[in-house]
Amino acid sequence: MSGFSDLDAAPPFVIAVANRKGGTGKTTTAVNLAAGLVRHGLRTLLIDFDSQGHAGLAFGLIAGRNEPTAHDVFSTGPEALEHAIIAATGKTGLPDLALADIRSPHPAGILAPDLLVRALDVPRIRESYDVVVIDTPPSLDALMVTALTAANAAIVPFVPHPLSFEGVRQFSRVFFSVRLGAEPRLRHVALLPVMASSNVLVHRRMIESLRQEFGNERILDPIRSDIRLAEAFAAHQPIFDYTPSGRGAQDYAGLTEAIVLRWGLGS
Ligand SMILES: Nc1ncnc2c1ncn2[C@@H]1O[C@H](COP(=O)(O)OP(=O)(O)OP(=O)(O)O)[C@@H](O)[C@H]1O
Ligand SMILES: [Mg+2]
Repeated sequence: MSGFSDLDAAPPFVIAVANRKGGTGKTTTAVNLAAGLVRHGLRTLLIDFDSQGHAGLAFGLIAGRNEPTAHDVFSTGPEALEHAIIAATGKTGLPDLALADIRSPHPAGILAPDLLVRALDVPRIRESYDVVVIDTPPSLDALMVTALTAANAAIVPFVPHPLSFEGVRQFSRVFFSVRLGAEPRLRHVALLPVMASSNVLVHRRMIESLRQEFGNERILDPIRSDIRLAEAFAAHQPIFDYTPSGRGAQDYAGLTEAIVLRWGLGS
């Protein structure tokens, strides 16, 4: 045996996609960003931490009864995560996946904030991935705190209308409380306008207010409205495979590029 620990491999960069509001493009972003990162040559694991199971469904996958899931970390412990990973072997352009448990919406058992930190800090995951993307449910509960505690960065997709403001604010309070914890990993946050149109006055105003409140550098270029993104989900394909030359593919390719540069992924 070598004297080196298996944990010498650099840990993956962990991105949580989160917003306490529902229907703001979290899953669409997690899935297409993960696929975009794979196309960038980055070894990517997508964790579906939302018991709605939408991130898995985006690839046509749902965990069967008694099949391992990412949520098993709450019942069995951190080591459960690596057993839940489904390799995308042979399918180019897809991330590896850890599916959600759609049968237990409120995970019971161990609810330690560092559960996912420990789950990711194992040789198989450190050696196999450059990036981990976590899709989270629309809430601010313990599960969200667990995801944010493991994350280096958070992306907050929001639909730019006035009701979204409060959701982003509430998220930012949790973000800063996690940052105040012991040895916080969470350093970056980026707000992502989705389903946005530059022709709509209220969208422009909303994005402008968030720029003023959170700082220009924290607002990413918008993802425009594109029905193909909904169709791609129904077809169980990333947008890059479903409509490679459409608006959605262009915008998510742009987002991926921006994230890779901004957070120095894979370098
Ligand atoms: N840019 C877009 N243009 C058009 N439709 C979109 C866009 N982004 C997402 N959608 C659609 O909006 C709906 C909500 O998106 P999505 O499921 O990604 O949101 P979510 O935040 O994950 O929702 P939840 O809070 O329920 O998890 C879906 O039907 C999705 O296909
Ligand atoms: Mg979702």
